[in-house]
Amino acid sequence: MARILLTGGAGFIGSHTAVALQGRGHDVVLLDNFSNASRSVPARLKEITGVDYPVHDVDIRDMDAMQRVFAAEPYDAVIHFAALKAVGESEENPLHYFDVNVAGTLKLLTAMRHAGVGRIVFSSSATVYGAPEHCPIAESAPLHATNIYGRTKLIMEDMISDLVRTGMLSSAFLLRYFNPVGAHPSGLIGEDPRGVPANLMPYLCQVAARQRDHLTIFGDDYPTPDGTGVRDYLHVMDLAEAHCAAVEKALGTEGTHAVNLGTGTGYSVLELVHAFENATGINIPYQIGPRRPGDAPTCYANPALARTMFGWSAKRTLLDMCRDSWHWQSMSAKIRQQA
Ligand SMILES: NC(=O)c1ccc[n+]([C@@H]2O[C@H](COP(=O)([O-])OP(=O)(O)OC[C@H]3O[C@@H](n4cnc5c(N)ncnc54)[C@H](O)[C@@H]3O)[C@@H](O)[C@H]2O)c1
Repeated sequence: MARILLTGGAGFIGSHTAVALQGRGHDVVLLDNFSNASRSVPARLKEITGVDYPVHDVDIRDMDAMQRVFAAEPYDAVIHFAALKAVGESEENPLHYFDVNVAGTLKLLTAMRHAGVGRIVFSSSATVYGAPEHCPIAESAPLHATNIYGRTKLIMEDMISDLVRTGMLSSAFLLRYFNPVGAHPSGLIGEDPRGVPANLMPYLCQVAARQRDHLTIFGDDYPTPDGTGVRDYLHVMDLAEAHCAAVEKALGTEGTHAVNLGTGTGYSVLELVHAFENATGINIPYQIGPRRPGDAPTCYANPALARTMFGWSAKRTLLDMCRDSWHWQSMSAKIRQQA
């Protein structure tokens, strides 16, 4: 059993990981500034697990507050989710992205160094592969940023690897997520985007809930079987379980390990739309729009390393992802009405 600090622990992936870690018997502490998470998340986590998670309402860029967090109790490892993640916004406001993602990570790493916490699991992204030349993508593929968000992930990966190389950290897992979707089957936690969703699944859910007229599919003339973009969708509970496996491995391992987290199967946008219709019985109106600059035609993982490195592979199906996303969408609408 380990004591683990989750930065960004109230967010989409952090909250699901908090549930999974608790199920494995670990002590979990959340740190979040709630800039992109509801303050009701800790209460919802308690409803799911029966556990009161300690919460630090702290910005990772606040050095004094970060030092106090680490002085208050010892941690065996940190899982670092806290970041800004919208590609379009990162191009509009690069300084803000460098500040939160890069400078924020620097503060976190400094506070960890002072406290002698040497193990980190980091939320990286398949975006570090840029526009991939070949699929499936292995961890050895060339790294390339095509936008500011991707650049910050590459810089953060490099900072963490350099600290391991110079002995300031003992072990780091750089987890490169493909496309996390779905929600906890309780429907009590899920992805809760503010404003217009930038990702396909939350947008699809809002169309299904008739909050939006239709879905726009960006391009149907890609070199893929039906012309729409192909991505590697991954259930967030599978992703949460991968974090448990990675952090447990990190506790007994040295060095830096970059590991893909995906299913290894690509589905097109149209396949996802049809799977969603099958899972929910709801018709999704859609229109075809122009391609978006920078979108790769196809992107899916070679997930073999995660299996050999820490015994993880994804189990849940595309139907599970659609059903649980929709359940969360319906439940959260009800919870909002009651509030
Ligand atoms: N969701 C995806 O599709 C995806 C894909 C690849 C990588 N990632 C990465 O995974 C991580 C988690 O993503 P998510 O989807 O759960 O996002 P999210 O926005 O739901 O979670 C991030 C959390 O960090 C918090 N946060 C942001 N800035 C902070 C700050 N300065 N101090 C403290 N807390 C702060 C937010 O309030 C939020 O709760 C991010 O690093 C993201 O870049 C996400």
